[in-house]
Amino acid sequence: MISSPSPLSPPLYLPVTCEIISVTDLTPHEKLFRLKRSDGRPLGHLPGQFVQLSLLGWGEAPISVASSPTRGELFDLGVRRAGSLTTALHLLESGDTVGIRGPFGRPFDLSFLAGQELLLISGGCGLAPLRSLIQYCQDRPERFGTITILYGAKSPDRLLFKDELSSWEASQRFACGVTVDSSSDTGCYDGTVGLVTSLIPPLTLDTGRTVAVIVGPPVMYRAVIAALKQKGVPAERIIVSLERQMQCGVGKCGHCSIEHLTCCQDGPVFLLSEIEQLRGAL
Ligand SMILES: Cc1cc2nc3c(=O)[nH]c(=O)nc-3n(C[C@H](O)[C@H](O)[C@H](O)COP(=O)(O)OP(=O)(O)OC[C@H]3O[C@@H](n4cnc5c(N)ncnc54)[C@H](O)[C@@H]3O)c2cc1C
Ligand code: FES
Repeated sequence: MISSPSPLSPPLYLPVTCEIISVTDLTPHEKLFRLKRSDGRPLGHLPGQFVQLSLLGWGEAPISVASSPTRGELFDLGVRRAGSLTTALHLLESGDTVGIRGPFGRPFDLSFLAGQELLLISGGCGLAPLRSLIQYCQDRPERFGTITILYGAKSPDRLLFKDELSSWEASQRFACGVTVDSSSDTGCYDGTVGLVTSLIPPLTLDTGRTVAVIVGPPVMYRAVIAALKQKGVPAERIIVSLERQMQCGVGKCGHCSIEHLTCCQDGPVFLLSEIEQLRGAL
């Protein structure tokens, strides 16, 4: 039986209209959309959660919130042009509207992360949800220990949030490592070339205090987890955010099942120790 939502809980299936306040090109394939709920209320999310974004005639897609709730009532979505809906979205401009359901899913456990040394590892579009956590850490510096950000992209022109990466690199608050798989197609990149996993062995980690957070394409997880385990980081201190094809986004339809868990409701954020034995999880 589906219980009706209480007057205080957000409606699960009814999209809220949101206005696009600005659109910024991040790369030739990814754009950042800054949105505002048309009822003026904040989204009410926590870092790590996602929304179901809808466009009339194109359907819905789960997209992670890329900004921190500490930054006010506007919120950001970083979206890669992947298929029909995201291609239609990329054609929209400021002043246009989209539908938003959510926020949904289990966020990063901020009380678990408090006081820990954070190692935030992302690849490709995975920097979008991590940006929400990074901004949160910037705005609540007293809560967290040292923060190391490792980020890898396919090529220099695919690096997301380049200006913010530079400001994080320049900040005393963060240690940053940025790398690209290959730089053959552009002449002006003088940074590191190699997979993001190559940034892990040189790190000095206090494995009793470090919590690693991994968000990236599926191919990245196994290699990064292996490199972390080699450094002595246990599965109970490794957090992953997983992607699955979704429909309802609220644990009802089973599209995103990982054995007995649903990615949309039990995740997308999981402790590695919760899911590493589940078939097909990684
Ligand atoms: C929790 C969660 C958070 C996400 N956050 C972001 C984000 O912040 N930014 C972003 O750009 N994308 C994100 N995605 C992926 C995004 O939802 C898909 O790219 C989107 O649904 C594609 O929609 P479309 O209609 O444009 O493409 P479609 O026409 O539906 O599909 C295009 C191609 O992508 C494949 N595809 C669709 N969804 C997925 C998926 N979830 N995983 C792997 N392949 C898929 C299809 O099989 C097809 O090959 C997230 C997905 C999940 C589950
Ligand atoms: S998308 Fe329906 S159960 Fe997760």
